[in-house]
Amino acid sequence: MTKIGIIGGTGVYDLMTLSGVSDEDVKTDYGTVKLQMGIYKGIQIAFLPRHGEKHDVPPHRVNYRGNISALKKVGVERIIATGAVGSLNLEMRPGEFILPDQFIDFTKNRVQTFFEDGAKGFVHVDMTNPYCLETRKIIIDAAKSLEMPVKTRGTYVCTEGPRFETPAEIKMYSHIGGDLVGMTTVPEVILARETEICYASIAMVTNFAAGISPTPLTHAEVLEAMRQNNENLKTLIIKAVELVPDERNCDCQNALEELGSLGQGKYLS
Ligand code: HPA
Repeated sequence: MTKIGIIGGTGVYDLMTLSGVSDEDVKTDYGTVKLQMGIYKGIQIAFLPRHGEKHDVPPHRVNYRGNISALKKVGVERIIATGAVGSLNLEMRPGEFILPDQFIDFTKNRVQTFFEDGAKGFVHVDMTNPYCLETRKIIIDAAKSLEMPVKTRGTYVCTEGPRFETPAEIKMYSHIGGDLVGMTTVPEVILARETEICYASIAMVTNFAAGISPTPLTHAEVLEAMRQNNENLKTLIIKAVELVPDERNCDCQNALEELGSLGQGKYLS
């Protein structure tokens, strides 16, 4: 049966009433990562608060490689992530959930691969559909069954942070096709694909982006918007977890086919 990883973004530091919860320190090539392991309706879940339980890890310091390695090591096959985002698109309003289907990368100082120096092979992982199509559909079906509105596409512009953007940057991101701006989807979504884990993200719009919003942005307003929608977000995740099929029926599991026996994260120790 599939083991599901949940990566909680800003405002999501615990998940739900899991039974048999235990903390597990997972040793990876990139340091030790603490996961909360638990069971929901017989489904095994590994929960990871991306910014730490006390929100003390900013987006540019997240141990993305450690986190994805740890989830892979405990056998996670599918990740549902959450993230707070600003909106560049007047049709994506604060309070709404969006399932990004594309990203544009403006990060600057993050290692984006497990194949950094060629020693484990050369990998140019396909990003035609960066977010797992099957996992996105599961979340869409979950939202439908809850009668919860979600927007089913959106281009996520990922910035380095931790500062918010200038209005000039937002104008440019909008011109090149961005709908949302956030600081975390890259390299998380890329590393998940490199380990052949399915990955989809639920973006929660907390504000209109700089220059669109009539007021300067604050982290407090992001937190408050997340707090207001937190329960809905958890309800959506739980429903999606319930709908996950036992077997995967998408291409993510074969993303590294060209590596042969080194696929499936076997290059990680
Ligand atoms: N910009 C970048 N990241 C964000 C924003 C924003 O406006 N809101 C929430 N996360």
